[in-house]
Amino acid sequence: MCGIIGYTGFEQASPILLEGLSRLEYRGYDSAGLAVQLPARTAEPHPLQVVKTCGRLQALIDKTHRGADLLGSCGIGHTRWATHGIPSVENAHPHVSEDGSIAVVHNGIIENHFELRRELMSEGVPFKSQTDTEVVAHLLAKACREAPGADKTAIIGSALARLRGSYALGILFADEPNTLYAIRRDSPLIVGCVRREGQTISTILASDIPALLPLTKQVYYPEDDHIIKLTLQGISFYSYNPITRTVADITESYGAPVTLELSETAARLGKYRHFMRKEIDEAPKAVKDTVQSGLNDPSNMIFSDESLLSSLQSIRMIACGSAYHACLVGKAALETLCRIPVEVEIASEFRYREPVIPDPRHTLGVLVSQSGETADTIAALRLCKSLGMPTLGIVNMQGSTLAGEADHVFYTQAGPEIAVATTKAYCAQVAALYLLALRLGQAQNRLAEKEQAELLEQLSALPEKMERILETEPDLRRLARKLASTHHLFFIGRGMDHALAMEGSLKLKEVSYIHAEAYAAGELKHGTISLIEEGTPVITLATQPQLLHKTLSNMAEVKARGAYVICFSNAENALREGVLPLSDVADHVVSLPITHPCFSPLAAAVALQLLAYHVSVARSLDPDKPRNLAKSVTVE
Ligand code: F6R
Repeated sequence: MCGIIGYTGFEQASPILLEGLSRLEYRGYDSAGLAVQLPARTAEPHPLQVVKTCGRLQALIDKTHRGADLLGSCGIGHTRWATHGIPSVENAHPHVSEDGSIAVVHNGIIENHFELRRELMSEGVPFKSQTDTEVVAHLLAKACREAPGADKTAIIGSALARLRGSYALGILFADEPNTLYAIRRDSPLIVGCVRREGQTISTILASDIPALLPLTKQVYYPEDDHIIKLTLQGISFYSYNPITRTVADITESYGAPVTLELSETAARLGKYRHFMRKEIDEAPKAVKDTVQSGLNDPSNMIFSDESLLSSLQSIRMIACGSAYHACLVGKAALETLCRIPVEVEIASEFRYREPVIPDPRHTLGVLVSQSGETADTIAALRLCKSLGMPTLGIVNMQGSTLAGEADHVFYTQAGPEIAVATTKAYCAQVAALYLLALRLGQAQNRLAEKEQAELLEQLSALPEKMERILETEPDLRRLARKLASTHHLFFIGRGMDHALAMEGSLKLKEVSYIHAEAYAAGELKHGTISLIEEGTPVITLATQPQLLHKTLSNMAEVKARGAYVICFSNAENALREGVLPLSDVADHVVSLPITHPCFSPLAAAVALQLLAYHVSVARSLDPDKPRNLAKSVTVE
C-alpha cells in the first residue's frame, strides 16, 4: 500500500526517484508525485518543487520528461493506493505545509487525523486535500513555528508524538539542503547508503527492497519511532523522549548495515512481458530453495526446537488472502501426516473475535505472510503473543515487522515478488508448511523414519514436477481464451482440493475480473448448483486419489445440468486404463504429474496460476497491477 522513496546524493534526484517508484508501483498506482529541493543558488532557503499526477506512474514520468524538468539532487517520491480521499492530484503525495517549505510522503493511516485536522483548521490552517497525511505537513510546520531554529529531529519528535496509527514517512525541509528525514511505526521502511571507496556518497529510503537494489545492498531496518536523518555523509538514528522532550543520538546502536543477498535483476522483468508470468516460472525454484533452506539451516526453529515441537498439542494458523489459502493446504497436510489438530483463521477476524485458545502454551501460532507487513496478520501475531502462545512467522521478506516480532522465523526463499497477485511466494509458503508437517511428524513420533524419508524425497522432487506443468502452457493458453468471455465460473474440489479451489478462484478473480466461486465439491448441490446453466464453466480439481470417485460424481452432477467441465487431475494413468470415466464427465482435462497426495495441490497451483494469467492477458488486462489492489496490505 503506497510506495515511498527518498534520495539525497550528487546526481539529479528525480530520475532516480522515478526509477525507484517504478519498482514500487505494485504497492499502489492511483497517483504519484515528487518533491525535490532546488539546487542552492543563493543563501535563501531552498524552495521545494512539487509535481503530482493522477493515474499510473507513467503520467508523472511524462509530465516531468523522465524527471529532467526537476533540477536538484535531494527529494522524495510517492505512488499511492487511495485510502482517504479519491485518487486525484490534490490527494496525491507529497503533501506540503501552507508555506510550501515542508513536504511529506506517507504510507499507512493516521487514525486521529480528524481531530488533528479540526484542531489545525480552528487555528486557521487551510487544507487542500482529503487525505490523512496532510495533517503531518501542517503539524511539522506548526512545530517549526513554535520552536524556531530547533533541531529538526526534535521538531519531528514533538510533532509526530501526536500521531496515532501506522506510518512510514519521508520528510523534506526546504531550509535543510541535501537532507531527508524519515520515521516509521508499524509500516515498512528501509534506508540504505551508497558507498564508493569507503565513503558514503548518497543515502536513500524506500518502503521496499526492490527500490533500493539498483543503488545499494547495504541497508538498515529502522525500528518503530526512531527518527532517521539521511545526508550525503551517511545515516543517523535518533530517539525522542516525549516526556523530557529530548533527542538522543542512537546511531551506534544500529551498528553496521545489513547486506542484502539479492541480485539486482531479481526485481527486473528481463525477457518477460509481465512479472506475474516471470514469477510463475520462478515458482519451482522458490519451492526448491525453501525446502533446501529448511533442510540445511540448523538455526531454523522448525528444525532446531525439539522440545517445543514435541510438546505441541495444537496449531493455530493465521493469515490473509492467498497466505490463508496456503494455510488451508498446510492444515490438511499437518492433520494427515501428524494427526495434530490445526485451526486456520483469517487474520482480520481472529484479531477481533476474542479467540478461545484452550492451552496457549502448547498451541503454536503460525503466522504466514509474504510481505511480513500485512497489518491484520501483525495484529494477530501480537494477540497470539499476548495470549501466551509460542509463535512462528513464515515470512518471505527479510527484516519485515512480522519477522522481527515472531518468536521464531522461517524465511521462505521466493525472492522479491513484484506482481500484485502472489504466485511463487504462495508456493513457497505451502512448501514451508509441508516442511513443518514433516518436522513435526518426526518430533512427535507420528512419522516412521522410512515414511519421513520417502516424503522428503517426494517433496524434493516436486520442483521438477512443477517445471513439467509449465510445459502445458500452450494448452492452458487455449483454455484461457475459451474462458475469457465468460461472466462467472466455479472452482470445486474436495479436501485439499477445496483449499486449492479457493486459491485458484481468488487468482482468477483478481487478475481477470471474472466472478468465480470456490466450493467444496459435495456442497454445491445444497443450493448453489441452481446457478449452473448451459455452458457455465466448472473447474474441478481432482488431485486426491482417495476422493476421486466422489469428485467424479460431483462433476457428473454439474455436467448433467449443462456445465462446461474442466478437470485438473493426476488420474491420468487411471484414465488411460479406462478405470475412471473422466472423459465422460469432463469437457477438458488438464493432466497433472503424480506425486504424494499431500503435495499434489502445490503442483496444481502452478497450472491454476498460469490459467489465471492467460485469462487476464486474453482480456487485455494488466495482470501485474489489477484494479483497486496493491501488494502488501499495511492497513486493516
Ligand atoms: C493474492 C494476494 C493476497 C495476499 C494477502 C496477504 O494474490 O497476493 O491475497 O496473499 O494480501 O499478503 P501477505 O502474504 O503479504 O501477508
